[in-house]
Amino acid sequence: METSKKSRKRNSRISGFYKLDFAQRQERLDEWCKLTTNDKWTLKKETLTAELADIMIENAIGVFGLPIGVALNFKVNKKDYIVPMVIEESSVVAAASNAARLIRENGSMTSIATDPIMISQIQIVDSPDPEKGRDKILEKKEDLLRLANQQDPTLIDLGGGARDMEIRIIDTPSGKMIIVHLLVDTRDAMGANVVNTMAETLGPIMAEIAEGEVICQIVSNLSDRRTVKVHFEIENLDCLARAGYTGREAAERIIKAYHFADADPYRATTHNKGVMNGIDGLIIATGNDWRAVEAGVHAYAARDGRYRSISKYYIDDKNHLHGEMEIPMAIGIVGGVTKIHPGVKILLKFMGVSSGTELAEVAAAAGLIQNFAAVWTLATEGIQKGHMTLHARNVAVFAGAFGELAVKVANQMAHEGRVKYDRAKQIIKLMLLKEEEEKKKNNK
Ligand code: MEV
Repeated sequence: METSKKSRKRNSRISGFYKLDFAQRQERLDEWCKLTTNDKWTLKKETLTAELADIMIENAIGVFGLPIGVALNFKVNKKDYIVPMVIEESSVVAAASNAARLIRENGSMTSIATDPIMISQIQIVDSPDPEKGRDKILEKKEDLLRLANQQDPTLIDLGGGARDMEIRIIDTPSGKMIIVHLLVDTRDAMGANVVNTMAETLGPIMAEIAEGEVICQIVSNLSDRRTVKVHFEIENLDCLARAGYTGREAAERIIKAYHFADADPYRATTHNKGVMNGIDGLIIATGNDWRAVEAGVHAYAARDGRYRSISKYYIDDKNHLHGEMEIPMAIGIVGGVTKIHPGVKILLKFMGVSSGTELAEVAAAAGLIQNFAAVWTLATEGIQKGHMTLHARNVAVFAGAFGELAVKVANQMAHEGRVKYDRAKQIIKLMLLKEEEEKKKNNK
C-alpha cells in the first residue's frame, strides 16, 4: 500500500475521465496508482474466483457481479482521493464526482474520526441483586480487562486492546438485566471477531460474579464510540446556481429540503438513504460489512428518540453554505476478506489510506458529498432529469442494444423524455435500418 505521504501529492481531479472507454480509464488510473496487467484483468474479469467464494461462505454456487466505478475529485483534509464504489445504481458515481469537484473548487472539506473503539455487549440475567452484581463486576474490572487483552496479543502489540468497561442495569419484561459494555480499541480492524471473543471469554466469569446467567455476548453495531465528524463549507454560493435559481436561492432551497428531512421520518429515511448511497459502495469495495454500518447509521439518526436527518445544512452570516454530519463508522483495512478478496486488495490499494480511521473519514465524506449532491438536485432541477439518461441506457441494453448503439438509443429516449422498453425497441430498429441504408449507399 502506498504511504499517505506519497499519495498526498496525487491529484484526483481527472478531467474528461467519463468520456474514456473502459480500458482507457484503467490506463489513465495508472498515474494514480500503479495497476499491474493482472490487476487490470482482475478488475475487468474476475474480482472473485469461484474457489475463494467457496471458502468465504457456505453452499456457494457462484459469484455475483456488480459494476465498480470510481468517484473522482475528492479532497478531504487537504488530501486527494479517488473513491472506488461497487454499486448497481446509475448516477451515484457521477453525482459524487460532480459534488466533490464543486466543493474542492469553491470551499473545503474536513473529516475527523475518533479512535476506533468498538462496543461488545454482555447480557447477564437473573442476578438476585443486579446493583450488587454490577458493583462486584466493577471491583474486578482491571483483572477482567487484563483477561480480555490476553485473547489477542497481536492487537495489544499494535497498540489496541480492551480499554474500559461500562455497566447499565435495564428493566425488561424478563426482569432486570446487567448489561456490560466492553470498550475495545480495535485499531485498523473492524474488530467484530476480536470483541466477540473477548465478550465470550468474560461473559461466564461476570455471570458467576453477579450470580446470574449470561445470554448474549456480541458486538454492538451502534458503534457510537467510533464516529466520524465530517464538514464542508462552500464559500461561493454562485456555484450552486441551477435550473433558473440563483446560488443563494438554491442554497436556501437546500436548507428547506434539509428541514423537511429533519422534521419528517418518511423523508429522513430517503434523505439518509442518499447518504448511504455514497458510503455503501465504498464499504463493499473495501471488503467491509455494509449491513453493520447501515444499521449503525440509522440507529444513530434516531439517537434522540426520533428518526431524523443524519446530516445538517446551514448558511452562515458570511453567506457560506455548510454541510455537516456525525456518524458511526466501524470499518477497517485489515481482517475479514481484506487480504483474500482479489478485488478488495486492488481497490484498497487505490484508496491509499494508511489506517482504518482514514478510510472511515473518507467514507463519511463520501456519504455527505452524495447527500449534498442529491439534495441540491432535488431542490433545484429534480432528480429525474439526471437519472433519465443512465436509466435509459439500462432500458436500451434490455431492449437489445449494446455499445455505441445503446448510448445513441438512450440519448434519443432521454431527449424525447420517454424511456420505455417498447420505444427502445422501435428506436433500435430504426437506427439499424438507417445504418443498413447508409452502408448500401456507401457501397454503390
Ligand atoms: C436515490 O437513490 C437517493 C435519493 O432518493 C436521495 C434523496 O432523496 O435525498 C435521491
